Amino acid sequence: MKNLKWVGISLGGLTVLIIVVGSILHLMGQNKLNFAPTVTIANVNVASDQSTLERGQHLATISSCNECHGNNFEGKAFVNEAPIGYIPAPNLTVSGPTVDYTDEDWAGAIRHGVAKNGRVLVIMPSFHYAEYGDDDLATLINYLKSVPPAENELEPRKIQFPGTIIFGILAFDSWSVNQIDHTKIGGSNAPLMENTAGYGKYLVNIAACGSCHGENLAGNTSNGPQGPNITLGGNLRNWTFEEFTMALRSGQTPDKRQLNIKMPWPQYSIMSEVEVQSIWSYIKSVDALEDNQ
Ligand code: HEC
Ligand code: HEC
Repeated sequence: MKNLKWVGISLGGLTVLIIVVGSILHLMGQNKLNFAPTVTIANVNVASDQSTLERGQHLATISSCNECHGNNFEGKAFVNEAPIGYIPAPNLTVSGPTVDYTDEDWAGAIRHGVAKNGRVLVIMPSFHYAEYGDDDLATLINYLKSVPPAENELEPRKIQFPGTIIFGILAFDSWSVNQIDHTKIGGSNAPLMENTAGYGKYLVNIAACGSCHGENLAGNTSNGPQGPNITLGGNLRNWTFEEFTMALRSGQTPDKRQLNIKMPWPQYSIMSEVEVQSIWSYIKSVDALEDNQ
């Protein structure tokens, strides 16, 4: 009897300990997600220029903003499941939280991964958008501010236990704001729109190819859409430029596969000749790698 009593007491103690530790981690995670580290947001000169709206829309399209924020930027529930909680990709029209965004707030969210209300943006691929040149970023922001209102009420982000621990502690360092070198942002424009590997590298960044194909383009092995190896160490080693263009613009591969739309080829179908050429030049310039394991 005595022994059983002690077992009971120690099990009770263990349960209390687990609850206390769990609660502390939960609060710590919540805090880290809601209070981003202070980052200096580089200024951008956004001119309200009608003539660049088309270019802004082009940039938004190849950067796949609509993939997550909806066709009309009305926003959508991006994550809505246990054990994480609810994470909307917010409505980016004046009907959403960006209604009172200044140009600097836009720049903070897009290039630094921090929302106006100070929360760390999760999932949003600012790590890649950090490479946006000042001129292109200004053009993109100008366009976003011109998008017509689209009513779509979305609740604010609500990351619950144990999502607070998963996103706020375990995965915390992988969010863009913690990956970006904020001192390097701003002060330079996009490379000239010419067929160079440098311009291709820039496009690969702002189109965030690496978020699905791996940062070294040799295939993504983590969560999310698994893009295959697109260095010349993979299938592309036998492709011609024409075949690459076809894959990017219509999702057709030389071996007659139709790529699914996890690969955003419908968005890339608007890419100009120079854009596709530059990306091809860049792919040819990087190491041909074995598939990432
Ligand atoms: C892979 C999906 C994804 C893509 C692509 C994406 N976003 Fe996001 N974005 C999100 C999610 C999810 C959030 C909300 C994250 C959070 O609340 O932690 C977000 C948040 C934002 C916010 C902050 C809004 C607020 O609540 O204050 C802005 C601004 C934004 N995105 C703009 C853009 C723009 C512009 C692009 C394209 C250049 C883009 N996003 C591409 C998923 C994405
Ligand atoms: C949101 C995720 C995502 C992004 C961003 C993305 N891809 Fe893909 N890509 C995929 C997936 C998934 C596949 C495989 C689709 C299938 O097999 O149906 C793919 C397939 C491809 C293929 C065919 C490879 C083969 O072996 O058949 C090429 C080429 C390609 N992507 C190039 C690119 C380039 C270049 C970019 C950036 C401009 C890019 N992708 C951006 C997800 C993505």
